[in-house]
Amino acid sequence: MDLSHISIVVPDLEAAIKTMREIYGLASGEIGENQQQGVRLAYVDLGNSKIELMQPLTADSPIGRFLTKHPAGGLHHLCLGVADVVPVMTELRGKGVRVLGEGKPAYNIHGQQIAFIHPQNFFGALVEIEQQAPDACAVR
Ligand code: CO
Repeated sequence: MDLSHISIVVPDLEAAIKTMREIYGLASGEIGENQQQGVRLAYVDLGNSKIELMQPLTADSPIGRFLTKHPAGGLHHLCLGVADVVPVMTELRGKGVRVLGEGKPAYNIHGQQIAFIHPQNFFGALVEIEQQAPDACAVR
């Protein structure tokens, strides 16, 4: 297991990318869109981990509602990379952990399977788990 990324919701993705570059000297990758998750996003590659910058596509989405509560943006989740998402979901559910979703994983923009652990089961933090190897038969 490794730390895949830390995710920050931002009100303006282009402005956030510009700030990362001009103030912090951090380059962001291409902007992508994840319709399933309702976000457009870009990653800052830190070498051993990434910062995920997410902007909601609509106000009426989980990320949109987060931004309404935190208009300047805010820390949203951390993501742990795992070898295989489904067995981890099954194991955690067996231990009483609330894993969000209908028993099947979602996908990130790279086609990797993802799932979310409910904050109530992780000391108040929203945790994403992400399959480390790319999945060829992904939705996107
Ligand atoms: Co994420």
